[in-house]
Amino acid sequence: ADDVAKPAPKAVTAVSSSVTRAEFEARTGHRGGVVWLTGLSGAGKSTIAMAAQRALFDAGWKVAVLDGDNLRTGLTSDLGFSEADRVENVRRVAEVANLLAQTGTLVLVSLISPTHAMRDQARAIVGEGFHEVWVKADLETCAARDPKGLYAKAKSGTLPGFTGISAPYEPPATPDLVLETGADPVDTTAGRLVEAVRAAFAPA
Ligand code: PPS
Repeated sequence: ADDVAKPAPKAVTAVSSSVTRAEFEARTGHRGGVVWLTGLSGAGKSTIAMAAQRALFDAGWKVAVLDGDNLRTGLTSDLGFSEADRVENVRRVAEVANLLAQTGTLVLVSLISPTHAMRDQARAIVGEGFHEVWVKADLETCAARDPKGLYAKAKSGTLPGFTGISAPYEPPATPDLVLETGADPVDTTAGRLVEAVRAAFAPA
């Protein structure tokens, strides 16, 4: 029933983890954290995240990828692409990313996360160890790539509310890193991401 769908805040009491973040990080050999890749559809977020994951894993890192398209088949399968649903999508993924980061995992998130407010919310949820990466490519470049045929549908009007065409994308104002995928190949951009991760999350 509606009256029990959401418990009163006082009815929920958080329990502390029996293993501290520092203990987890001592085990994984690096700090946990969240590297948040934002950018237009087709900019290359997933490709870069997967390449960086492979490289970091091969170097002994514990690294997870939370990818928008993949999560939308499960965790967020109830959500669409309205502004409110995207806010909830970003919130949910940030919460999961934070839980993983607490276990000493390096989390690469690849989500369009189109607005400042959405990304600020993710930053607030994660707190320490949040890095924002702008996977940057011109709208024209992304539309020319059109790997899933979505830009064609958006331009013809059969796919409403498509980011960059009929829904907003606000580029990050002060990203920690910018990866230009129109100019550089994936081994270059993924390599730069790996170096940034090493610099930020390697043990002190
Ligand atoms: S968001 O804005 O962060 O909630 O989006 P995200 O979860 O990253 O999902 C983006 C992928 O969904 C597909 N898709 C759309 N994207 C944008 N706008 C609309 N209307 C839309 N409909 C479907 C698309 O494949 C996106 O994947 P990427 O990898 O970004 O191209």
